[in-house]
Amino acid sequence: MNQIIGTSVSRKDGNAKVTGKATYGAEHQIEGLVYGYLVTATIAKGVIRKIDTLEAERSPGVIKVFTHQNPPNITKPSNNFVNSKIYESRLPLADDRIHYAGQIIGLVVADTFERAREAAYRVKIELEIETPEIASDRATYQKAPGMLGQSFDYQQGTFATEDFSSKNPNLGATLEATYTSEVELHAPIEPHAIIACWQNNDSVTIYEPTQWVQGSQKTYAELFDLDRDRVRIISPYIGGAFGSKVFPWPHGILGVAAARELQRPLKLVLSRRQMTANAGHRSQTEQTIRLAASSEGKLIAIEHLVKSCTASVETFPEPCTVSTPAIYAIPNMKLKQDLATLNVGTPTFMRAPGESPGMFAIESAMDELAWQLKIDPVKLRLENETKEHQRRKLPFSEKYFAECLQTGAEKFGWSQRQMQPRSMKKDRLSVGWGMAAASYPALRSGAEAKVSLLADGTARVLTGANDMGTGAYTIVAMTAAEALGLPVEQVKVELGDSTLPNGGLAGGSQMTASLTPAVLNACQNVLQQAKAENAPAAFAALKASGLTEYEAIGSSAPGQEGKNFAFHSWGAHFCELTVDEEIGRLQITRWLAVMNVGRVMNAKTAASQIRGGVIMGIGSALMEECHFDPTVGYPLVYDLATYHIPAHADIPRIEVAFVGEPDLNFNPIGARGIGEIGITGVAAAVANAVYHATGKRIRNLPITPNKLI
Ligand code: MOS
Repeated sequence: MNQIIGTSVSRKDGNAKVTGKATYGAEHQIEGLVYGYLVTATIAKGVIRKIDTLEAERSPGVIKVFTHQNPPNITKPSNNFVNSKIYESRLPLADDRIHYAGQIIGLVVADTFERAREAAYRVKIELEIETPEIASDRATYQKAPGMLGQSFDYQQGTFATEDFSSKNPNLGATLEATYTSEVELHAPIEPHAIIACWQNNDSVTIYEPTQWVQGSQKTYAELFDLDRDRVRIISPYIGGAFGSKVFPWPHGILGVAAARELQRPLKLVLSRRQMTANAGHRSQTEQTIRLAASSEGKLIAIEHLVKSCTASVETFPEPCTVSTPAIYAIPNMKLKQDLATLNVGTPTFMRAPGESPGMFAIESAMDELAWQLKIDPVKLRLENETKEHQRRKLPFSEKYFAECLQTGAEKFGWSQRQMQPRSMKKDRLSVGWGMAAASYPALRSGAEAKVSLLADGTARVLTGANDMGTGAYTIVAMTAAEALGLPVEQVKVELGDSTLPNGGLAGGSQMTASLTPAVLNACQNVLQQAKAENAPAAFAALKASGLTEYEAIGSSAPGQEGKNFAFHSWGAHFCELTVDEEIGRLQITRWLAVMNVGRVMNAKTAASQIRGGVIMGIGSALMEECHFDPTVGYPLVYDLATYHIPAHADIPRIEVAFVGEPDLNFNPIGARGIGEIGITGVAAAVANAVYHATGKRIRNLPITPNKLI
């Protein structure tokens, strides 16, 4: 069999993307479109006393103005993840209440985008203003509800104050520190958008970027009281999503509802400013960590207390403690998570939800402990490696965390590090080296794919999965090419249409692990049908038989393996940076990430995925933050100029290496997914390098220049 999986293959969709032929959500050409523009709240809490739409309705080209006084018909969904899921539980235009600045309070529909926008500013609103809850440090915290059936609070061993007391004869060092991170905004390059086209009243085609095509289909079906097969979701290309395009948002629901009422195809695009409130964010976090260790560096106890914030329209705790029982063996452990409600837009899943801020705290604390104990931080991590997931009481399958640390240290030249802070200099700059672990669980769900072998000598793979820029088109083609014995160029892949077999969810880093075994299975089935060893033999049989194609469906789903193993991916980041301590200027000069993710499907796009994660992590480490105006509660950032994300000049060449073996306990392909692990640990590696460079321990992200002077 020709070996294709694991080689470097350029993106199949690359050409379409760079030439503008890839069609994104808002770009589908539809006859007779009308355009929606949102009216949004300028205050963060209050009641709409009066809303006067008369002038807007008389504005040129306006077809209709929707407000809470005449909302379009929407059915309340079960919103339980299984039958449907929406990001924000409150339905758009449900009543006269305002819960956050930027909340949708109206929709103007006109014959052009410009006319709809013009009229939106002619809607007159009288408000009764209430004092919003905006400040996380003055909010009231309560125990956070669990997530997906699991409580956040967890305790093991004899976690007690004695573990931290100087009377404990084993105690070598203790640490107590509080780490914070700020609100991070979802800012994918493709703005959120929807086009809804109804065919009469009983079926609808929706063009919307979605990470979960069939999930979206189920949810819109419930929202509009339709059978699932009456809803078609089309999403062939997505310009980034990171967790913000999994479920319908209020603007999407409202767009589809308005299109039904008007019986016209309708397009609605969020502006960058509207995205700050209406497309999700990662909550600010405050995490207090207490650690106790022996003088040899064996961890004795950990307490990890988390505070995060949610919105009054939806409950979402940022799950910061999820990795804590996975990464280090600690006999005595206490995890606790509290939550406060603020008048802000809905916080939600954002690349490594929980692990990203959670591991900033843990991996910073481990570094602080290493300095206290005068133990190398790589060694400290090796000393405390887990063999099993402590909370799930299952051994890890194919774990190569130690190899990540050792390979990383060797490739980076870690042994050359001078131990004292402020001891390494380059010209007049202070040089810092820092490292941190990366970790992310491996998830998997059921998926299906259809494979056809055609008379023209090509194969086609069809599945309702999607590619949000991750490289899914390419690895699906590579999987089929290898299984069928064809060059990758002869495999055509179609994704992103709900009429295709259920492709599963691109979230929780699970698409590769869910989908590629289904593609493999479909390829085996189609060859069996052709009674052929490989595709070339099948093509010959096809010709001889006079048939036009062979076609087969394949599927794959988790079995009993989850009862025997915990599946997790691992990694280590090594960072070099320079700090000009006079002006607080920080430049990252070198980065190495060594990852253990099971089988690497495509060496090129896998490295790109890790690089993307590292870049996003550098963003959260150094620049990303959204504050809210303390009186009106509006986000103080509103576009990609005011919300800083890394540019090319901020990022050095990022070296990526993979270690380990395929995880065949997990699935027949052995891949564990790669989308999120890259960001985990990054902010800590930066903060740890900053400490080495400057002697300043910065526990509050982002590490902006003012904190370095
Ligand atoms: Mo990811 S935050 O599950 O898209």
